[in-house]
Amino acid sequence: MPITTCVFDAYGTLFDVTAAARAAAAEPGYEGFAGAWEKVAADWRTKQLQYTWLRAITDEHDDFWRVTQDALDWALEAAGQDGDPHLRERLLDLYWELEAFPEVPDMLARLKDGGMVTAILSNGSPPMLKGAVDSGGIGGLLDEVLSVESVGIYKPASAVYSLVRNRFGCERDEVLFVSSNGWDASAAAGFGFETAWVNRAGLPQERLPHAPAHTIDDLSGIPALAGL
Ligand code: LAC
Repeated sequence: MPITTCVFDAYGTLFDVTAAARAAAAEPGYEGFAGAWEKVAADWRTKQLQYTWLRAITDEHDDFWRVTQDALDWALEAAGQDGDPHLRERLLDLYWELEAFPEVPDMLARLKDGGMVTAILSNGSPPMLKGAVDSGGIGGLLDEVLSVESVGIYKPASAVYSLVRNRFGCERDEVLFVSSNGWDASAAAGFGFETAWVNRAGLPQERLPHAPAHTIDDLSGIPALAGL
């Protein structure tokens, strides 16, 4: 079926999750963080995702803000950067206003001009997602922001992908699902969505049961994949 609905993962896909640590490292007062920010950003993201999967498996859901703080605390301690409470607070503040990748506003505007339904489907809690959408200035280009909080389990549980069908009443193969997370793209493909994996870092494809239909370098090609 033709694509009618374009659904985006949020963190790492529309919003640059490394931006918070990079920005803090450039601010006065955090000179001691300049040599550590890349490790902290990588560990923060890795632990954040691991904690979502573990909480899903053990049926101990708590929201993404809790998981994001826990992951940051692990990453700061691992890098020997846990002695400055101001740094922790600054990083968490910056996470609420992450930069959108540069091509995002124009790409979403092209989808809306072409009559597509557009949405976010994210692990993020509704307040976190509102913060990121507002700071990216893209709220007017999205029809819906769907959070896992309404089902109380993280991706890649199929209940999360079902939120799209429940909200829009569309068939699975009408949905183009876009994620920078290979595991998320794989699970969405298994669910039956047409899937695009945004592989900005040139990573190998995940060895998981389902492969994404498309692999792209950034989001500028999404309107063409949607048939516009
Ligand atoms: C999200 C995470 C997986 O936004 O990036 O759902």
